[in-house]
Amino acid sequence: MSEGENTLYPVPARLHDASQCPEPYVKSVEQYKEMHRESIENPEKFFGKLANELLTWSKPFTTVKHGGLEHGDAAWFLDGQLNASYNCVDRHAFADPNRVAIIYEADEPNQSENITYGALLRDVSQLAGVLRARGIKKGDTVAIYMPMIPEAVIAFLACARIGALHSVIFAGFSAEALRDRVQDAGCRLVLTADQGKRGGKTIETKRIVDEALKACPSVETVIVCQRTGADVPMTPGRDYWWNEETSKRMTYLTPEPMSSEDPLFLLYTSGSTGQPKGVLHTTAGYLLGAAATVKYVFDYHPNDIFACMADVGWITGHSYIVYGPLALGATTVLFESIPTYPTPARYWELIAKHKVTQFYTAPTAIRALRRLGDEWVEGHDLSSLRVLGTVGEPINPEAWHWYNDKVGKGRCAIVDTYWQTETGSHIVTPLPGAIPTKPGSATVPFFGIDLAILDPVTGKELVGNDVTGVLAVKKAWPSMARTVYGNHQRYLETYLKPYHGFYFTGDGASRDGDGYIWIRGRVDDVINVSGHRLSTAEIESALIMHHSVAETAVIGAPDDVTGQCIHAFVCLKPGISQHSTDLTKELILQVRKVIGPFAAPKKIYLVEDLPKTRSGKLMRRILRKIIAGEADSLGDISTLADPSVVEVLIAKVAKA
Ligand code: WT7
Repeated sequence: MSEGENTLYPVPARLHDASQCPEPYVKSVEQYKEMHRESIENPEKFFGKLANELLTWSKPFTTVKHGGLEHGDAAWFLDGQLNASYNCVDRHAFADPNRVAIIYEADEPNQSENITYGALLRDVSQLAGVLRARGIKKGDTVAIYMPMIPEAVIAFLACARIGALHSVIFAGFSAEALRDRVQDAGCRLVLTADQGKRGGKTIETKRIVDEALKACPSVETVIVCQRTGADVPMTPGRDYWWNEETSKRMTYLTPEPMSSEDPLFLLYTSGSTGQPKGVLHTTAGYLLGAAATVKYVFDYHPNDIFACMADVGWITGHSYIVYGPLALGATTVLFESIPTYPTPARYWELIAKHKVTQFYTAPTAIRALRRLGDEWVEGHDLSSLRVLGTVGEPINPEAWHWYNDKVGKGRCAIVDTYWQTETGSHIVTPLPGAIPTKPGSATVPFFGIDLAILDPVTGKELVGNDVTGVLAVKKAWPSMARTVYGNHQRYLETYLKPYHGFYFTGDGASRDGDGYIWIRGRVDDVINVSGHRLSTAEIESALIMHHSVAETAVIGAPDDVTGQCIHAFVCLKPGISQHSTDLTKELILQVRKVIGPFAAPKKIYLVEDLPKTRSGKLMRRILRKIIAGEADSLGDISTLADPSVVEVLIAKVAKA
């Protein structure tokens, strides 16, 4: 990834022109600084006020903030009660049932559909009724494995309505990955669809669920939504059709009052070990973080059309397709397809067709579209746009400029939003009307985020500007994850213990001379492919399950389009020929089968040996250097058990 540039780009004048744009909520750097200072010095006042402004409570909270990072017991808005589904549906349906909640932009462009808040209230109530009738109670966990159709959003909200936790598993995960996640959470019910549609291709969703459930004894019920109407096998006594079940239920179901700290959902994410973690978010703090960032980071105003291109299976979809926009009563776009289907103009057609005001996507998509040529973006009416967001990885200046010039026509704010599954909502980001931007920098901390850059070795905070270290947060904030499901120890060890008293992000970062934050990427064994987070250990353990594999080392290599891509070094068991042509293909298939297609290695090197120290520790650093073509700066390799492996590996990589 190329270094960013240090030019400051001012807020486009159009954002402050009342004849063209609504007045931004935060209008200047000074106002941002003042609000940020208050949010840190007096979080009780700042977040107490915001929580009453943005959320509706069935019982008011008494204590804004309790506990913190020291003991891993942060809690917000204690004694308060609210329901996330009420906040995202009912109150807007009561105000205006005809307001559009969801614009469903289906895989085929001519099949889009609008769902009003009134209809959403009915659909959510009916599905919640189905869950209840099937014995799901407050505190149970429901798995959602669904394509990007309105029923997926309805599924989230139906769970929240009765106080069941949802665990959404991205529909690109394989049967095995789905099985592991369903088992870990002990899910009692699975919400799914017959098939999925994406980029003109059909995905056998129900078949994957059937495969996964062969080993999930906790699952009693499967509710199957008909996306294509295909004839899929149904297991009697376990599987039921969505429409048949919902049609039997009342069109209104009273939402369950939930305490602020009651869990809202689990979302599995990869860490530095092979075992994915069920990150747990609670009701009030999470919802407030999602709503507050839609308001301030996207400068959302009534009647805006909000379009986040992520999948609901990732945290970006949770916070910026579902909870954030709906909590504010916005119209949210649900995009089922891919940016290049049927042509690379799809995004721009979507923006023009629905008059999108906020558009949010990943740098990898921007890079891919930029490569396909400007002609696809030219000639579409993109004048409705005000804020363009990116997420998932740093944006390189070339992509930033293309986004700014070709899509934003220099009249839109660009917000490079840095955050994580665990943070729940943005933690470092510009605000459209206030913060001048620098291409490649996520700029400044959001409200409530007391940011710190630490010396990675001593853990000491590096104060002042022009420093580089690891990125951490000094105080608890409302939308931070509260625990890892079933393993609070792991939560403490991953996030809170590495640097006592701080939340550790796992990312390296710099603060430049102007106080701007630059994210440098993960400092642990996490790889970021197209904004998807994968652990090297997870891919290694998938490969090792193959009968021919003795040992393997997976690393992230730089990639022009996907940011990073996966390279795997594989040592075969004795007697297995390296020259079997199908083996590489088989190994790729193996990863697709165990994790999912998005985790497939781009390159596999079949090798005799890996670089290890005499004590047997794998030297990934050496593999990274070889891949990066920096074999001339390997440093000291004399600690290797067998330094000659290096030459062999260099030759192998050069040939591949
Ligand atoms: C990791 C979190 C949060 C939504 C998507 C990914 C990287 C995320 C940025 C950004 C640089 C970024 C970090 C982070 N990341 N956004 N704007 N600039 N890096 O969520 O799967 O939890 O991954 O994505 O490395 O730790 P996730």
